[in-house]
Amino acid sequence: MKRILIAISAFIGLAGLNVSFAANEQMQHQNHHQHAMSMMDTRTSLELPEEMKQHQLSNMREHLEAVNSVISLMSENKFEDASKIAHSKLGSTPEMLKMCRMMGNENFTTLGLAFHKSGDDLGNALKTKDVNASLRALNKTMQYCVECHATYRQ
Ligand code: HEC
Repeated sequence: MKRILIAISAFIGLAGLNVSFAANEQMQHQNHHQHAMSMMDTRTSLELPEEMKQHQLSNMREHLEAVNSVISLMSENKFEDASKIAHSKLGSTPEMLKMCRMMGNENFTTLGLAFHKSGDDLGNALKTKDVNASLRALNKTMQYCVECHATYRQ
């Protein structure tokens, strides 16, 4: 009788272990799955031709530099200069509009044009030397950076 009890409890113990192994494996599987999902780039590709890629990235780095300059100039109360940078580097210049229209994706172009329009608005807000209005405009412009990067890749 004692032997049978030991055998049964050993069996139950093993079965329990098995269940917890299975649960553990399942969790690891899920983790792998989630990890794989986060490693996957699910953004829409613009399928840019090789010769456009570097040009687009260098434009982007200029956008980042422009935002940095605007913030830096604002902190020194140089609103006129900040306004000029916003208009010339982030605003709707003919070169920027041309670039946005060359990207071969209508929704991307629409987003790009709205972004440059916000750069014009930023330039106008900075011209008034109103800090809060300028920050609100800068915030709006930067929301376009975030939105587009979340949606598109080269
Ligand atoms: C309409 C779309 C769009 C807007 C708006 C936009 N970007 Fe980009 N940007 C892109 C795309 C597409 C890439 C390439 C991303 C990729 O392929 O992973 C990129 C890449 C970049 C890069 C990487 C450059 C490199 O050398 O690797 C930087 C920096 C950048 N953007 C800054 C900005 C900043 C700052 C703003 C706003 C002031 C901005 N972008 C607005 C579309 C946009």
